[in-house]
Amino acid sequence: MAMKQKPKNNVELNKMRAAGRLAAEVLDFITPYVKEGENTLKLNDLCHDFIIQHGATPAPLNYRGFPKSICTSINDVVCHGIPSKDDVLKDGDILNIDVTVILDGFHGDTSRMFLIGNVSKEHQQLVQNTYEAMMVGINTVKSGGDIQNIGCAIEEFIKPKGYGIVEEYCGHGIGKTFHSDPMVVHYANNHPNYSMKLRKGHTFTVEPMINMGTAGNELMDDEWTVRTLDRKFSAQFEHTVAVTENGVEILTESPAGLHYPPYNL
Ligand code: MF3
Ligand code: CO
Ligand code: CO
Repeated sequence: MAMKQKPKNNVELNKMRAAGRLAAEVLDFITPYVKEGENTLKLNDLCHDFIIQHGATPAPLNYRGFPKSICTSINDVVCHGIPSKDDVLKDGDILNIDVTVILDGFHGDTSRMFLIGNVSKEHQQLVQNTYEAMMVGINTVKSGGDIQNIGCAIEEFIKPKGYGIVEEYCGHGIGKTFHSDPMVVHYANNHPNYSMKLRKGHTFTVEPMINMGTAGNELMDDEWTVRTLDRKFSAQFEHTVAVTENGVEILTESPAGLHYPPYNL
């Protein structure tokens, strides 16, 4: 069955814009706290309070049993890392913080990478290429196009660099629901199940996970944390986007202009 999504009207799109902006503001807000010696539970608590103070709810908290308000994924953690007092950021780490808020009934979902201290050249390049992969995918989006163009463009960009593209975790439709159709795969494919013709008002995320080594990954015993099989590092960025008349609108653009690291504050 091909995927379907009812396009959002202008009232709904405005609510998506507000939710997306707040999610991006959470990442802007947390940026100066992300440094060596800080633990990820502290980052979680700061984000949680910021979200509540802005009249919103952190969507991950209790979502299918997830215990915290944001996801913090360090180094070889691909996604869904659980914030913990025991996870203390150290020199050379790369960290993804993934924020999803619910504001006025609508979700905004975005993540960025952070570099801790002196990160190796190859890991800096992984992070930069992952940001560019997300943008290459987003830039295929237009009314009348197919959502499968996203994965094709990402693979064309990433494959020559020798990285692995994670296949098990995908972008997703988003709105009143956190995860819905369409499923947005980040690799090249033309299976009819993953095809959807884009229309103005469609909203979804683009969130490629790119591995330094092979694409394989495994779920840890906590049933959330996903690690690379080869324990090489993995990076991810995520935007929530809306299809417009002429192209695409990024709903989670950083108001502070903090697109990818280093974030020179
Ligand atoms: N924010 C993640 C995404 O991009 C989902 C996290 S689900 C959670 O889709 F339960 F782990 F929070
Ligand atoms: Co997310
Ligand atoms: Co998402």
